[in-house]
Amino acid sequence: MKGIILAGGLGTRLYPLTYATNKHLLPIYDQPMIFYPIKTLVDAGITSIAIVTGGPHAGHFMRVLRNGKALGIKHLEFLYQENEGGIADALRLCEDFADNDNIAVILGDNTTDMDISPHVKNFKTGAMVFLKKVPDPERFGVAAFSGEKIVHIDEKSKNPKSDYAVTGLYIYDNKVFSYIHKIKPSGRGEMEITDVNNCYIDNGNSLQYTKMKHYWSDCGTFESLYAASKFWHDKKKI
Ligand code: DAU
Repeated sequence: MKGIILAGGLGTRLYPLTYATNKHLLPIYDQPMIFYPIKTLVDAGITSIAIVTGGPHAGHFMRVLRNGKALGIKHLEFLYQENEGGIADALRLCEDFADNDNIAVILGDNTTDMDISPHVKNFKTGAMVFLKKVPDPERFGVAAFSGEKIVHIDEKSKNPKSDYAVTGLYIYDNKVFSYIHKIKPSGRGEMEITDVNNCYIDNGNSLQYTKMKHYWSDCGTFESLYAASKFWHDKKKI
């Protein structure tokens, strides 16, 4: 399986911090944010990785990561996303890199201490999402269930149908790119990864899920950036 980290966007919610560099290079305790999703992939045995970035500070990634060897990466590619067209738009750029292999995708601002290797090893076809119970589901893509099945995912709904957020950690088979080519930009003008996940639900019910018991957080707001730094500080100090 190959790995993809999506680290585009402008990080406007973190202005003025992101005037000077890319959001995903800001510190989470003692490391740049992007080191965490890289470690999640490398610890699961995924060492061929593409990073999609964009914006004015894209060159900073090279200075921080170089060829990725120090972090256990064997093959590292960078792709540049023009404009900020959404998560599925960023993923679209990786079609050649994926070359029909299965892919594990992580949003560059997500950190977790979960070991995803059993899921990587056991994955066959379809898609896998990782759900986390959260107190503020309206901030996320949220799963709607019928019994034990996910029947739909709603993106940032004002009336979320559960308190299970779809985290920014996904495993896809090679159908993902044909679904990306089918979807249209949402009301907020973005190609939504939630629409791609709904394609898997609507086509043969091929969306599987795992409820995460481990720590998970995004780091796109001051509150979550601070909370993630605190979590990793406390964990590393134990
Ligand atoms: O963190 C999990 C959530 O991430 C999911 O629950 C949502 O379904 C999903 O849409 C996403 O929501 P956010 O509002 O948090 O997405 P955000 O715009 O903050 O983007 C998250 C990361 O995705 C960002 O750190 C880099 C990457 N990204 C985003 C955009 C808009 C790109 O690479 N390119 C983009 O154009």
